[in-house]
Amino acid sequence: DGPPGGRAHAKAILLGEHAVVYGAPAIAVPVRSLEATAALVPSTGSKIRSALYTGPAADAPPSLAPVLAAWHAAAERCGTAGWASTLTVRSDIPGGRGLGSSAAVAAAVASAVAAQARIVLSDEERHALIQRAETVAHGRPSGIDARAVVATSPFRFQRGAADPIDVGAPLAFVIADTGTAGSTADAVASVRALRDSHPRTVDTAVERMAELADEAAIAIAEADPDALGARMSAAHEILALLGVSSPGLDSLTRAAHAAGSPGAKLTGGGRGGCVIALSLSPDTAGLERALRSAGAVRTWTTTLAATA
Ligand code: PMV
Repeated sequence: DGPPGGRAHAKAILLGEHAVVYGAPAIAVPVRSLEATAALVPSTGSKIRSALYTGPAADAPPSLAPVLAAWHAAAERCGTAGWASTLTVRSDIPGGRGLGSSAAVAAAVASAVAAQARIVLSDEERHALIQRAETVAHGRPSGIDARAVVATSPFRFQRGAADPIDVGAPLAFVIADTGTAGSTADAVASVRALRDSHPRTVDTAVERMAELADEAAIAIAEADPDALGARMSAAHEILALLGVSSPGLDSLTRAAHAAGSPGAKLTGGGRGGCVIALSLSPDTAGLERALRSAGAVRTWTTTLAATA
């Protein structure tokens, strides 16, 4: 039965990243093929075992600060038992790719601590713990990642609240990695700086992104891939205007279009990281090949099942 553990999965933002920070709705989808897990065994003092670092928690590198924040907050909520332990963290979600790696690890850690203390956390309690870690990782996160890494279906997110959306027919997406990490904190800060200097430009972009997110949700419900793809591509143009795209992201979105994808865009914070491209068919092999030929170092797929 193993030591007490927790797990969470990756996520992708289909529409509305950055605009969501300013109150616009966004749509996120779970990416279940990539996972983070955490397990705890009692030990003298607190230790961490991970791909990045193994040793006393006190000497962990700054990149593990969000993990420590999640662990601390969860141990505080659940009693100190979870703190005098060795925490083993594994994640196949690459960091800095807009795939929610920090939130997924935090969610897995919170669940592992709760399991060790035999406490059942409510969804809201777990969310608050993940957000504590996200705040350490990103400054002032909107909370969309914290919801998405534990979500079982696609959802619309706005001002902290997540509501599942209807899916009219199955959809397949390819996520392609530029191979370059992007800092979400830096990207969010750059949009904020642009908003300070050019408020009208950013406010107009946020309004348009809000419309695109709601139109995309309708297209998903009405099983209209062309309408959805058009909204995704339009969103990419706006994100580029906001300065969060990159030559690598632009070239992968172009390659997706050339391979017949109805729409493609960067996903997450941008300035590196990944694109998400809608596939015309459930067989994504051709689109994945095209994206790899255009320079993607890895590709993954995620599918949305039709809701009844
Ligand atoms: O963690 P990322 O890179 O998927 O970015 C999250 C989405 C942003 O809108 C850019 C930031 C946020 O807090 O919502």
